[in-house]
Amino acid sequence: MNHQPIEGFSKLNKQGKIDWLVTEYLDGNQEYQNILKQYWNEDADLQKLHEEFSENTISNFYMPYGIAPNFLIDGKLYALPMAVEESSVVAAASKSAKFWLDKGGFKTTIINTEKLGHTHFIFKGEPHKLQHFFNFKLKKKLLEATEEITANMRNRGGGILNIHLIDKTADLPHYYQLKASFDTVDSMGANFINSCLEQFGKTLREEVAKEEEFTQEEKDSLQIVMNILSNYTPDCIVRAEVSCPIEDLKDDSGIAPEEFAWKFKQAVTIAEIEPFRATTHNKGVMNGVDAVVIATGNDFRATEACAHAYAARDGQYRSLTHCTTDDGIFRFWIDLPISVGVVGGLTNLHPLVKFSLALLGKPSAQGLMSVLAVSGLAQNFAALRSLVTTGIQKGHMKMHLLNILNQMGATEDEKQYFVNYFKNKTVTHHEVISEFNRMRGQ
Ligand code: MEV
Repeated sequence: MNHQPIEGFSKLNKQGKIDWLVTEYLDGNQEYQNILKQYWNEDADLQKLHEEFSENTISNFYMPYGIAPNFLIDGKLYALPMAVEESSVVAAASKSAKFWLDKGGFKTTIINTEKLGHTHFIFKGEPHKLQHFFNFKLKKKLLEATEEITANMRNRGGGILNIHLIDKTADLPHYYQLKASFDTVDSMGANFINSCLEQFGKTLREEVAKEEEFTQEEKDSLQIVMNILSNYTPDCIVRAEVSCPIEDLKDDSGIAPEEFAWKFKQAVTIAEIEPFRATTHNKGVMNGVDAVVIATGNDFRATEACAHAYAARDGQYRSLTHCTTDDGIFRFWIDLPISVGVVGGLTNLHPLVKFSLALLGKPSAQGLMSVLAVSGLAQNFAALRSLVTTGIQKGHMKMHLLNILNQMGATEDEKQYFVNYFKNKTVTHHEVISEFNRMRGQ
């Protein structure tokens, strides 16, 4: 059936939206109404709060919220909140945390916290005149014009760090940037940065129009294309690492510590040189990072984009983690560029986000960066540890077993039977189904 477009969907109330959807797309089947409604919260205020986070909301989409305990980070114990739907991510994080708990835990270092944004513009005039104008007039004007916007941030110890004029005309004719760096302290700072940049755009237009050194033609050639923060923040970066004598790398699979260290380092090196493997390797890193990013109300699309841009910074996509095994010491680390906030955004609104931040001891943005890098490193350690020993399916399928059984409508007793059945063997989809059918006499 061909569907009809709708005018004014956003103006309909929630029930109106659902009625229209069910009629237009779901053959009027009222079952679908019930699916949506069973996720509404009984607490009307809480429901309204969630609905107002976004537009055209008709229900809530649950995500499991789990805890990975026993993370020793810079000498302090943490239980990490993780919002993730993929089975085995939380279990893997917990396993890594435990592994490193008696080996000194995770150490982190904030390398820098600088955020970036640009005013992208076209100017068809003399480049040296533009540079001179920027150096001696515009830069000062840009700072003055944003004084009101930056006042609060400056009081909190942040603000605009620097502004540069960048000539990009070799890449695109007449293309320049005002490239600004910011310290946004404990906020992610997207709104702050974008407000500053939009003011830069206005001031640039006004000041060029007034500038006597430019010809009328040069003035008329100015086009502000856009003002926007960059989600690529290679100078907002945190390092997390673990290390121990190789002989301490004892694994339940029975592999000798030296062989484990050698294979593990090979696996990391492969991800450093081979983009196909690097993509999966970094996906595993982001399993850990995103789960905590989401649980703390931060923007996982931004952190994903940034991490992958950084992983490709020399022109080839590579591993975000690194490993050495020199002088009998196993060392494994990540340099993670990540911009997150602990104030603003959802942080004061979403009750579970408040809970997550309280659980983490109300960290600063830098403290949260450390936790996120650790979560990514731990997740990658767990994945590589499985990959170079038992293989990934053993642990993964064990966690996935309940999904398969739920899909088949297994009872609680049947689920318990299967947990015991697969205690000492690798779960396969095929074996679950044939044993299930055998048990039910089918
Ligand atoms: C699965 O979500 C992630 C892994 O594939 C990561 C990896 O291969 O390193 C296990």
